[in-house]
Amino acid sequence: TASIAAAEIAERTGVAHHDLALTLGSGWGKAADLIGETTATIPAHEITGFSKPALEGHVGTLRSVLLADGRRALVIGARTHYYEGHGVRRVVHSVRTAAATGATTMILTNGAGGIRETWKPGTPVLISDHINLTADSPLEGATFIDLTDLYSARLRAIAKSVSPELDEGVYTQFRGPHYETPAEVQMAKTIGGHIVGMSTALEAIAARQAGMEILGLSLITNLAAGIQKTPLSHAEVLEAGREAEPVISALLARIVEELSTV
Ligand code: 6GU
Repeated sequence: TASIAAAEIAERTGVAHHDLALTLGSGWGKAADLIGETTATIPAHEITGFSKPALEGHVGTLRSVLLADGRRALVIGARTHYYEGHGVRRVVHSVRTAAATGATTMILTNGAGGIRETWKPGTPVLISDHINLTADSPLEGATFIDLTDLYSARLRAIAKSVSPELDEGVYTQFRGPHYETPAEVQMAKTIGGHIVGMSTALEAIAARQAGMEILGLSLITNLAAGIQKTPLSHAEVLEAGREAEPVISALLARIVEELSTV
């Protein structure tokens, strides 16, 4: 169905080919306006395989954006989360659709919890690798693909050239929708995780399968349970996202600009 969705996007946007794609998670939404000129906006649920947004804070649109250098970005403001229960194929549909539109670069962003105490809410962190704790995979059958350098070292270097102070960390995808217990956060830390979240890892696997080069960015909206002394709330996550949005969206736009010049 990804090829059907891509054909619908081509028809609705009048753009036959997109060069890169961005999934904008909580806090990253303003980047869509900063990277270029939006020439078409489609309610995502009007495209095959996409569902209505389940959450406040998620915009639910697909946009075709024309960059200054002529490249085309597909901006995905409609993420299906694993915890919605529609299955992993629906979760990665947007990524596969992006690949089917021609995109060879996939930028995945999210709002997430931080395990490192030094990360204040509002800190953007580059994803260096992931640990997939969903016990699921978007791949079926004998698809033994390699996940070394899943989050492209080349793209991370470009991001760091834009913002040398960017930290990196290992993203740990939990199923959600509840936040982790403090014990689970300690487990994530012990096994090498630095960031806890509910998206991205499964999408990155599908993007790699599709042959895309991947950049992952997390906005730390709060510290994870037990690291932060106060209880977590979705409202707090949204608020941190809103506050950080102008700064990190500008950062992402600068990164996209640099990507287009290489
Ligand atoms: Cl603490 N955990 C998870 N899984 N996702 C989050 C989060 C925490 N904070 C924001 N998103």
